[in-house]
Amino acid sequence: MIVTVTHRFRDPVNLPRFQFLKGTLLQAARSSEALITLLTDRVDRSVLEAGKRLRIVANVAVGVDNIDVAAATKLGILVTNTPGVLTESTADLTWALILAVARRVVEGDTFLRAGRFKGWDFDLMRGLELQGKTLGIVGAGRIGKAVARRARGFGMKVLLHSRSGTIPLRRLLKASDVVSIHVPLSKATHHLIGASELRLMKSTAVLINTSRGPVVDEKALAGALRRRRIAGAGLDVYEREPKVYPELLKQKNVVLLPHLGSATDDTRRAMLEMAVKNVKAALGGKRPPNLVNPEAWR
Ligand code: GLV
Repeated sequence: MIVTVTHRFRDPVNLPRFQFLKGTLLQAARSSEALITLLTDRVDRSVLEAGKRLRIVANVAVGVDNIDVAAATKLGILVTNTPGVLTESTADLTWALILAVARRVVEGDTFLRAGRFKGWDFDLMRGLELQGKTLGIVGAGRIGKAVARRARGFGMKVLLHSRSGTIPLRRLLKASDVVSIHVPLSKATHHLIGASELRLMKSTAVLINTSRGPVVDEKALAGALRRRRIAGAGLDVYEREPKVYPELLKQKNVVLLPHLGSATDDTRRAMLEMAVKNVKAALGGKRPPNLVNPEAWR
């Protein structure tokens, strides 16, 4: 039973017969019963088809858009993710972005370090007050709801949009002062926020994305920011990571983070433990607890 892990994790991986990735994912798939992957590993059909002995791909992420789940299901390969354990850390980071953009935290830091702070100034860097404003959450899953819970502490009114009802996206975009995206990436959510959606937003509103980059049309977002159609944006994810749409890099009213949503010690450890549990279950002939494609279980 060979388990190939694609990354040298700082935390111990307690599995019998595991090895770190050498060569390509395709080569590893050929010789492994299990793969422990990251969201940067593209597990496409060719990798899955090469995995003649492959029983499970355990993704150390909640999103599985890096894996061709439909192909895995057809081939009877189990796919698992790490839901729940990264909810709070990702919701915290979402709030870090909301506050950073609303109160111009990064801009202020840059200003001071550049030696431009010459004394307190009544009109310096006025931002967006959150108390009493409306937070529109697109995607009412675990993370969206955790972001909503924190909004109570900031005295914000919350609107939720999800596939299963609640408020229509158009209405949410028109009414919100902060719009935060929390949907998984799929064909249905690719460019969910594009030029026409951005046009619906208030000119004073800010957009936050800690989900997946391609949910937002970056070019349209850069255009909306340039034309001051919206006031600012906070992004943790990008359409073509690690590339960032160049125009976004030039804009002051944008805070850009390098995909840090779940990057805390506690969460990273819990994610890895969860993936290991899923692998152990699958290799022991048991149904893994975080199975994404139950159709592949037989
Ligand atoms: C991180 O982006 C994840 O999907 O876990």
